[in-house]
Amino acid sequence: MASHNANIIWHQTNVTKQDRQRKNGHKSAVLWFTGLSGAGKSTLANEVERRLYEKGLRTYLLDGDNIRHGINKDLGFTPEDRTENIRRIGEVSKLFVDAGVIVLTAFISPYRADRELARSLVEDGEFIEIYVKCAIEECEKRDPKGLYKKARAGGIPEFTGISAPYEEPESPELIIETDTRSLDACAEQVVEYLEKKIIL
Ligand code: PPS
Repeated sequence: MASHNANIIWHQTNVTKQDRQRKNGHKSAVLWFTGLSGAGKSTLANEVERRLYEKGLRTYLLDGDNIRHGINKDLGFTPEDRTENIRRIGEVSKLFVDAGVIVLTAFISPYRADRELARSLVEDGEFIEIYVKCAIEECEKRDPKGLYKKARAGGIPEFTGISAPYEEPESPELIIETDTRSLDACAEQVVEYLEKKIIL
């Protein structure tokens, strides 16, 4: 894609990110949930968001299927489209962080380089990569949308974990094993980490 922004300069707004964070009483951050389809990204992100919301924190959840119905409805699942999907979500997340919000994102985001790009858009410490880890056998057993079955039958080309890659995070801030622990325990692990890191 050509870049036409050589003459565009970023403007500092009068109200800054720091002003917004002070008013909210907490830092802002990206909680980037990554993992296979069916690993529990959405379920966990939803549960974590509910707990943070109940504590009075300002949060917003960007979820795979919803984003693909709207801002990214022109994108499919080729490697290029997934990269563009994650790039846009990274940029949107950056805006939320600037707005003083804790943004939770739940996307497979299978490529390490794409996740690193999203990380590079925000400041040090603002990107919290959460690997929602679950054995593919378990994801396939859960198969909440029947997609693994369809993919095994050849009905979905480039399906993550079957005919397309998932590159595991190398040093995520958190690893949450959803196939060995309850939703309650998994959500608690995330919230405990955040209490130390992002509540002022
Ligand atoms: S990605 O790789 O980050 O761009 O994917 P994402 O935006 O998170 O979308 C994943 C959801 O789309 C459905 N789906 C597929 N997933 C993987 N591979 C292929 N080919 C595919 N086609 C459709 C699937 O329901 C994913 O949802 P989750 O919530 O992860 O199960």
